[in-house]
Amino acid sequence: MEKQQVKTIGIIGGGQLGLMIVEQARLLGARTVCLDPAEDAPAFRLCDEHIVARFDDPAALEELCRRSDVVTYEFENVPGDLLVALERKYNIKQGFRPLFDSQDRLREKNNAREHGLPTPDFEAVDDAESLRRAVARIGFPCVLKTRTLGYDGHGQAVLRSEADLERAGELLAVPCILEEFIPFDFEASVVAVSDGGQVVCFPVGRNIHREGILDLCIVPAEMPEALRDRMTERTRRFMRDCGYRGILAIEYFVKGDEIYFNEMAPRPHNSGHWTIEGATTNQFRELCRYLLDMPLEEPRLVAPTVMKNILGQDLEAAEALAREEHPDVYVHVYGKTVSKPKRKMGHVTFVGMTGEEYAARWADRFVK
Ligand SMILES: Nc1ncnc2c1ncn2[C@@H]1O[C@H](COP(=O)(O)OP(=O)(O)O)[C@@H](O)[C@H]1O
Ligand SMILES: [Mg+2]
Repeated sequence: MEKQQVKTIGIIGGGQLGLMIVEQARLLGARTVCLDPAEDAPAFRLCDEHIVARFDDPAALEELCRRSDVVTYEFENVPGDLLVALERKYNIKQGFRPLFDSQDRLREKNNAREHGLPTPDFEAVDDAESLRRAVARIGFPCVLKTRTLGYDGHGQAVLRSEADLERAGELLAVPCILEEFIPFDFEASVVAVSDGGQVVCFPVGRNIHREGILDLCIVPAEMPEALRDRMTERTRRFMRDCGYRGILAIEYFVKGDEIYFNEMAPRPHNSGHWTIEGATTNQFRELCRYLLDMPLEEPRLVAPTVMKNILGQDLEAAEALAREEHPDVYVHVYGKTVSKPKRKMGHVTFVGMTGEEYAARWADRFVK
């Protein structure tokens, strides 16, 4: 009898992204071990082994690497010095580079520009004086953001007039970036996976945010085909030029026929959750295929798809939907033990559905 070698994927982070990586790793026959500081992390219920530890605990991170054949991250703020040291000894296949490039909004936007992706105008801002100078050049309205650790609209403020400068003072406790406000027509994102040779791209989704948090992702993004192709092509080229491997999601603003880079994340992205049912292969599966040294598959759209994010306030509605029997409505509940308004608790994917059909038939089921 031939003995099969089962590979183990180590995942830094055990949130919903970790959980969905674990689901797909299993389908591909791999084991998983997750590290997360929360004892009740969603991924812990499904992974083969877990380590409860802080993301900056060097011994715990090394233990995760020792137990794994290949390591990835779903958490973006792993300290660089720790990861760089581990990268020399272990197979952290995506490496620290894409994480380093995305951890600081200033570095991230400079890097995007250097590699051919236009961004909103921006400037580093460290105190009230440099803020005034930057506002004088960029003009109102503009957006002030902390350079590090921002997410879901936290750590940023839109400045519309002089009066807002006072309010902005709080953010200035840490280094910031001031950005030109883009009155975009809409937001869109692309998720790509590269193995160093081939780059596969998921269909472009149109993203609708509410209070800084993704609310809906509508696929295909309704936009001229030429613009959609340009966005995909630029993403592919950017990945190649940067030499990134593994997964990368890029958020763009679209205004007329201009495309602006907003931010990127070298991990599965909320705007790619729809791919689990709406595409022939999904973002978590392609990441795992990359990690497991398997050839990548080019994804195709199954049918028009809408993804609705479920925050705490919509959890009951999502659970009700799950109890009802609706074909082509896929309810994902992450199993977080504490539900709070604005906390991501799950998502629902509607396959074979356009944005208009969703608005007419389903939108009323959720909090407005
Ligand atoms: N320069 C900008 N112009 C217009 N809207 C912006 C700008 N920057 C951010 N926003 C809005 O705020 C949302 C969150 O900002 P983003 O930079 O993506 O931070 P986060 O890390 O919180 O997702 C964006 O999706 C967009 O809707
Ligand atoms: Mg964003």
